[in-house]
Formats: sequence, structure tokens, C-alpha cells
Amino acid sequence: MGTSAKPTLETPPRIDKGLDDIYVKETSICFVDGQRGRLLYHGYDIRDLAQYSTFEETVFILIHGKLPNREELTQVKTTLAENRAISPEVVKLLRCMPPDAPPIDVLRTAVSYVSNYDPERDDPTRAANMRKAQRLIAKFPTLVAAHHRIRQGMKVVPPDPTLAHAEDFLRMLTGKKPDPLSARVLDVALILHADHSMNASAFAATVAASTLADLYSTIVAAIAALKGPLHGGANEAALKTMLVIGKPENAEAYVLDTLKNHGKVFGFGHRVYKTWDPRALILREYAKQLSELKGQQELFHISEVVQDTVVRELQSKHIYPNVDFYSGLVYHLLGLPTDLFTPTFAVSRIAGWTAHVIEYWEDNRLVRPLDYYVGPTDAVYVPLDQRP
Ligand code: ACO
Repeated sequence: MGTSAKPTLETPPRIDKGLDDIYVKETSICFVDGQRGRLLYHGYDIRDLAQYSTFEETVFILIHGKLPNREELTQVKTTLAENRAISPEVVKLLRCMPPDAPPIDVLRTAVSYVSNYDPERDDPTRAANMRKAQRLIAKFPTLVAAHHRIRQGMKVVPPDPTLAHAEDFLRMLTGKKPDPLSARVLDVALILHADHSMNASAFAATVAASTLADLYSTIVAAIAALKGPLHGGANEAALKTMLVIGKPENAEAYVLDTLKNHGKVFGFGHRVYKTWDPRALILREYAKQLSELKGQQELFHISEVVQDTVVRELQSKHIYPNVDFYSGLVYHLLGLPTDLFTPTFAVSRIAGWTAHVIEYWEDNRLVRPLDYYVGPTDAVYVPLDQRP
């Protein structure tokens, strides 16, 4: 029967390991322009959002696809504030976690557990999913903060619905209301991390969604994928590099030495951006302001020398700072321990994950790729008592 283009055992297919350059859906949520260094949410430039918007408004843009009017903005703020509280059962679960459990693992477990208390968990309608998305977004800061307080042996701080999302997250973590600059810097960091197209965690969520699993299950899959150091963990490594360097006068030699030994400087380079990552440029400015406010300018000065040296040495390879180079520094200056960096990333990215899943369900198709078999085809089964 004619010739088939299908690969056979003799004619292997092209394997797209890592799915580089594979498009899996059309989207209107997020556009990453790697050549011009632009990032858009539903067409809105994140530079404008970072300057004029709030995380709550960004959530509305991501899940509704438009700017809210005054009433819609009030509504999304109220919904997020009212749903921030977590039940005593969930706090009890957080107390059961081993003291050294990584906070990102605790968040993953808690999301799974919280789903059992949502009466709409298995309602697959778009309206129910939009409501569940907002409930999830609302609860993430509380889950992260409550677990952090518990593992420190401190009293859990309940949410204050009169405060904004980012401000209350910092208050629930530290037990005191943050200064206005710290609250604004975290708000901007949440805006900047809220989505970044079909990255590994968004894709993990999409794969789970494609089976028509519930929204909570898709988010558990996303958190699992975010955990890895190749995805959500690079900001920790970038901060550790700066701490190892110790002083600005050591920074140039450290970078040159790393490059001479063919090492990578964490927080630089990106698969998509071949110019400055726009998020890095915004966070750099806030890192500077924050370091001045906190009187901790040493690390910022180190970051400047590292940045200038890497850009000077690797310009021909189009290597520039990415968002992780400055987000680690910003979170450190806000007083977050390094193992809260990835959960804080999740507190923001939950907005993008839910938006992608809801969008995917509008035209769902089960994700079922292929793998090319290279094992034996003639293995003979030998009963156990006859095996050597
Ligand atoms: N430091 C030093 N050299 C670098 C760096 C870096 N951070 N990044 C890339 N290069 C060099 C590579 O050595 C390579 O050089 P060569 O052509 O002489 O071999 C060239 O630039 C191309 O690098 P690749 O790794 O092939 O680029 P790719 O697009 O595959 O990788 C990646 C992008 C993985 C982000 C890479 O730049 C990297 O490992 N950076 C450090 C880790 C990091 O900061 N990750 C966070 C990314 S942002 C995010 O996920 C939110």
C-alpha cells in the first residue's frame, strides 16, 4: 500500500527533544518578543503595567483579556481579598509538615489538599473555573506565609482584606506592615512574573488540563515543574553567586575566572531574549532603590560589576541579565529567605497558569506526543525458574 511518511524502526523520525520551536496552541495571553526585548500581557506592555498597574489588575487582564473598568477592578480586588483566608483544616495540614520540608513542596501538597474543600472542584464550566482561578490566586500568599511562620515557630498571621495582595503577603510573612517601597517592589515583582508564555510549568499545567483533570490538579502539575533549578530556581543561584563574590572589588575577577573555565554566570542568558530582558531592567532599578532604603548597597554594587563584566565579555553571544539576576537580589532585600524565592514566583505565576489552562480548555485536545522505540523487538520470555 503506497509509501508511508511514518517513521519505522529502520527510518527514525526527527526528534524534537525539549520541544524547542514546537508550537502547541494559539494564545492571546502573553507575547515574548525576544529580539526587541518586549513582554506583553494581552497586548499590554509590562513596562506600562510595572509603572501604572497592580498585581490585582494584572490578574484581571490575564484571565479576562482586557483592562478592567473601575467597577471590575474593585470586584477583582474584593474577590482576591475575601478569598485570601485559608481554613483551619489547611493550617492543620501545614503544621503536620516536617520542619525541613521545602516550602515549594509544601505549597504543592497544600494546593492538592485545598481542592478537597472547594465545592466547585469538579465543575468544568468556564464560569466555575474563573471563580476557582481567583480563589487559588487569592490563597497562594497565605499558604506560603502561614507555612513559613509555622516552620519558624511563630504565630500564623491571618490575612487583612483591607490590604493589597503584595502588601498583605509581606505582612503575613513578617508580622508587620511593610514600608510603601517594599510593598510596591513586591507588587511589581508579582506583575513581572505573572506570565511568560508556554514555559515548562505552563506546559505541565496544559498537559494535565488536556486530560480534563480539574483546575487544582493542573496547578499541582505546574508547581512540580516550577520547582526545578532549570526553571523556577535560577534566582537562588544568582543570589548565591553574589554572596560568594562578597565584595564589589572581587566581582570582575570572579566573572572572568568563571568564563575562562567555561562556566555559566547565573542570571544571564535566555532561550528567547537575545537582548536585555525587560523585566530585569525594571527590577534592577527597584533593587537599587531598595538597597538604598535598607542601607545594604554592597550586593547591589556587586551586581553592577557582574552585570557590566558579563555584558562586556559576552555581547557577541547576546548574553544579557535575565529576570532572575535581579529578582533574587530584590527578594533578599525584602528579607525573604532563599527557599521562599520559588514559592514567591508561584504566588505570581499562578495567575498565568490558570489563564493558560482556561484558554486551552476553550479548544481542548489531549496532549499525546510520541516517543521513538529503540529497544529490542525479539526478547524471549523465560519463566522465573528457568532463568540463570
Ligand atoms: N554565562 C556564561 N556564558 C553563557 C551564559 C551564562 N549565563 N549563558 C549562555 N552562555 C554562553 C554559552 O556558554 C554558549 O557559548 P558557546 O556558544 O561558546 O558554547 C552561548 O552563550 C549560548 O548559550 P546556550 O546555553 O546554548 O544558550 P541557551 O539559549 O540554550 O540557554 C540559558 C539559555 C539556559 C538560560 C543559559 O543562558 C543559561 O544557562 N543561563 C544561566 C542560568 C540562568 O540564569 N537561567 C535562568 C533563565 S531565565 C528563566 O528561566 C526565568
